[in-house]
Amino acid sequence: MTTSTPIEHITVLGAGTMGSQIAAVCALSGYRTTLVDIAEEPLEQAKAQLRARLERDVAKSRRTAEDVAATWQRLQFATDRDAVVATTDFVIEAAVEDLAIKRQIFASLDAVAPAHAILATNSSNIVSSQIASATHRADKVCNMHFFNPALVMKCVEIVPHDGTSPQTMERTRALAESLGKEVVQLNREIPGFVANRLLNALRKEALNLIDQDIASPADIDKAARDALGHPMGPFELMDLVGLDVVYLIRLAEYEQTKEESSLPHPQIKQLYEAGRFGRKSGRGWYDYASA
Ligand code: CAA
Repeated sequence: MTTSTPIEHITVLGAGTMGSQIAAVCALSGYRTTLVDIAEEPLEQAKAQLRARLERDVAKSRRTAEDVAATWQRLQFATDRDAVVATTDFVIEAAVEDLAIKRQIFASLDAVAPAHAILATNSSNIVSSQIASATHRADKVCNMHFFNPALVMKCVEIVPHDGTSPQTMERTRALAESLGKEVVQLNREIPGFVANRLLNALRKEALNLIDQDIASPADIDKAARDALGHPMGPFELMDLVGLDVVYLIRLAEYEQTKEESSLPHPQIKQLYEAGRFGRKSGRGWYDYASA
């Protein structure tokens, strides 16, 4: 096995919103894919959500029933991470945004994955240099960042750290392209990468406007949609991505920058502490219970 070993088996770690759809994207594109989580319950949830999503695609003639059946043949669900990773060519980690946990995960992955395997993190904020040093294969570690919902959004950001090899970048780019994604490749790492930094600038201003009671979240969202042509406004988007994710991303950035401006906005903290995570919990900036 060499660094040019073809990618046949992909492991996606973490069966949350991102991980489950990333695994589906890989399986739909023809890769044998295993979605791994530490517990059965999130795997069962992911399976049910993907089943509903793919059945809807068939009902709407976006995919054929044969394609979807073949995708299910390629997509496995497992809790035994070490056994799965031992036969994998490419890992996409989509676990919680917590540096200490990611470092532990990458150290364990490094111990069991074949020598040629690339270990990528889907983190949008924790740059891979912070994680690569937990492994003995820093040259095969990078960020490969998908967007929510991963089944729909076309972009993948690929971000090297100083020690990522050109071969790793090439293989990761080739994989993303084979998944039908458009690649935005950064020259060097920066927390938030490109798209989230752009998004953050908009989000910061939206929060600033509600702080000053200039307009309601609904009207600010309307302006983003109807004046700027964005598919969703910044508050709707936070509810889609999850206020828990938004909150943890801010904390992860703060850990790296130690700048107060990185900390979560007080209203985001309040929603997070109240368990108002957005669509997934039925309430965030908006109420979905009655929808
Ligand atoms: N999962 C998979 N597919 C979905 C989906 C989901 N959660 N939500 C919608 N879709 C697909 C479906 O195919 C749907 O069609 P059907 O209802 O006929 O099945 C189609 O998209 C259209 O959906 P809707 O009619 O419900 O609404 P829409 O036209 O507004 O599209 C959207 C939904 C694709 C999410 C669109 O609003 C959009 O692009 N929003 C912006 C998303 C965005 O900015 N994402 C980036 C977030 S930042 C991030 O991800 C970074 C990070 O690190 C966390």
